[in-house]
Amino acid sequence: MEVRPTGDGSLSLRHPVHGEGYHPAAGAVGQAERLYLRGSGAQAGPRPRIFELGFGLGVNFAVTLRHARRRGAFLDYRAVEVEPVPLEVLEEVLRPLDAELFARIAPHWGGSLEVATREFRLRLEVVRVQEGFTAGVRVRYVYFDPFSPRANPEVWTPAVYRKMYDLLEAGGTLVTYSVAGHVRRGLAAAGFRVERIPGWGGKRHWLRARRTAQPNGVEEGDAQVGDGPDPEGRAGPPEFPSEAANDGA
Ligand SMILES: C[S@@+](CC[C@H](N)C(=O)[O-])C[C@H]1O[C@@H](n2cnc3c(N)ncnc32)[C@H](O)[C@@H]1O
Repeated sequence: MEVRPTGDGSLSLRHPVHGEGYHPAAGAVGQAERLYLRGSGAQAGPRPRIFELGFGLGVNFAVTLRHARRRGAFLDYRAVEVEPVPLEVLEEVLRPLDAELFARIAPHWGGSLEVATREFRLRLEVVRVQEGFTAGVRVRYVYFDPFSPRANPEVWTPAVYRKMYDLLEAGGTLVTYSVAGHVRRGLAAAGFRVERIPGWGGKRHWLRARRTAQPNGVEEGDAQVGDGPDPEGRAGPPEFPSEAANDGA
């Protein structure tokens, strides 16, 4: 497994079997900040509760934690991962981002784990998301970050979209990098209100999907969704003409 730098200097990996990148070539941290953290609105939540599909190398988690720390917010993070990378690979990528975080996780790595500190709680389940995961309290944000529909077709399905919908509280937001038509239609059929948001690093658009219905069926207004100005996410035309790795079609 070869770890390589991405365009913003942060490290990533290519999957040895299907050859797809864990992050876009333009930047692993760049995508984490722009799409998952800011695109979802998690950068503004007072005590963000997040579910991630595809913990991977922990880049999205590390970036979200760094931001939460800076503003003194407690981060409650749940994630699923079907195939944890070898510990030495995790070390190579995650340690430069957050050595303290890596040291906390490393002793438990390889199976399901739960780590709690004063700053965060991370519950990572080693499981295929479509086969179920521990239900808990609902989350406000979903980082939907598996490999592309080509590489991971079993995840981009109505059943999984519905699970994500059920996991989100009213007003909650899911973000993902794929804007493929079947993804947009599938999320809409699960009940989400779906919109394209400006992408970055070779992606013209990303996707944001909101659970708008309250339990009593009343539609919420936009103001409740926590989607304040997102200057970085709306940063104009893509810098690269071609689709980056991990582009999801
Ligand atoms: C694009 S990478 C995620 C990168 C990661 N979010 C990060 O910040 O480093 C996709 C991840 O989804 C995982 N995955 C693929 N299919 C899955 C499934 N059915 N259930 C859970 N995880 C899955 C892969 O093993 C891989 O680690």
